[in-house]
Amino acid sequence: MVPELQYVFLFGRNPKLSYLELASYFKARELAFKPIAWFERACMVSFPQELSAEALVEELAGTVKIAKLLFSCNENELEERISSANLYEGTKNKIMYFVDVINASPSVREFFKDAFKRQRLKAVHKSVAPHILAKKSYEYVDITVIKNDSKFFVAKTIACSNPHKFRERDINRPFTEPEIMSSVRLARILVNLSCTMPKATILDPFCGIGTVLQEAMLLGYDVKGLELNPERAKHCMENLEWIKKRFNTSADFEVKNGDAKKLSNYFENESIDAIVTEPELGPLLKTLPAEQEAKQIVSTLQRLYEKFFSEAKLVLKPEGKIVVVIPQFRTKNSRLFTINMDKILHENGFRIFNATKNLPIKASVPYLYKEEWHKIERLIYVLEKVLK
Ligand SMILES: C[S@@+](CC[C@H](N)C(=O)[O-])C[C@H]1O[C@@H](n2cnc3c(N)ncnc32)[C@H](O)[C@@H]1O
Repeated sequence: MVPELQYVFLFGRNPKLSYLELASYFKARELAFKPIAWFERACMVSFPQELSAEALVEELAGTVKIAKLLFSCNENELEERISSANLYEGTKNKIMYFVDVINASPSVREFFKDAFKRQRLKAVHKSVAPHILAKKSYEYVDITVIKNDSKFFVAKTIACSNPHKFRERDINRPFTEPEIMSSVRLARILVNLSCTMPKATILDPFCGIGTVLQEAMLLGYDVKGLELNPERAKHCMENLEWIKKRFNTSADFEVKNGDAKKLSNYFENESIDAIVTEPELGPLLKTLPAEQEAKQIVSTLQRLYEKFFSEAKLVLKPEGKIVVVIPQFRTKNSRLFTINMDKILHENGFRIFNATKNLPIKASVPYLYKEEWHKIERLIYVLEKVLK
């Protein structure tokens, strides 16, 4: 019997959302995915064969590092196991290393210092992880030590994400509009949450300048966009042309200028595999709104979303999915105003889809996505049609 290989996926901000992305990615491709333990911001997963970690970390937006488990042991064995582990396989005698610690005491770093010394390596400890520096020009050993109950897990990074690549796609495209666009990382996570096979067709009916669409194209999907503002629709088209040339992708794109409330006028019935969108979220708020203002915004958005969902169900294929970001508004006096999603889902025949439903480690959908600097909170919904 071939022994299973164990990997640790280390996530950035929003670890459970990143885990949901990972589970959706594997489910879409019908690949075996066996999560075995959750550690704060990391997940240990077992696979029957070697992973193409470099390629995988490029496709996933929420995973910052993929590490291979070197060993697990009890506390009294830890120093000895570290000193005999194969920490560095290169040929240089001067290297740098970083030790990430989850739940364990930072003092475990001393064991690595001693281990490298014993292996006659000139190893300089760094306090910055290599994925932050995104430099590969020198030898960098990146280790994660996790303590769970009384057990220690030691893993060595085999691939890490490159933040410069995300930045390049953000700032170098012909048009950016920070006030209205989704972050490139979130856009890619949303696309992966759609749990749809690459080469399928993804639609963003509120496409803005095309952040979701560009990430979908780079993941191999054909894309369609709709945008109310004619100038933005043009900018979106130019951005996607730039993506196609710059990254040499064969994915097709089509962008139309129009109203998502009349989606079925622009796209054929049952022609779309997944709708992925951060839609119109209401006016830009500089401060938390007063109750009256929040009530007003929610009621305007409720009408827009009701119409949009009644059209979405027409253009989606029977097995189609929707990934949509829905805002909720906390007021100055801490009251929360929300969109009535139960009504929208019930009236249009959608239900929550959760790729982690049958897994031993779960993430919740809708997922509350809230960053300190956000004036509005967002719920990320993943939906499927209720088949009759
Ligand atoms: C949050 S932005 C979209 C961000 C975009 N999904 C992305 O990937 O960057 C919302 C966009 O919806 C557009 N919009 C607003 N109402 C619309 C409608 N009824 N139909 C289509 N687009 C609409 C706005 O002009 C704006 O560009």
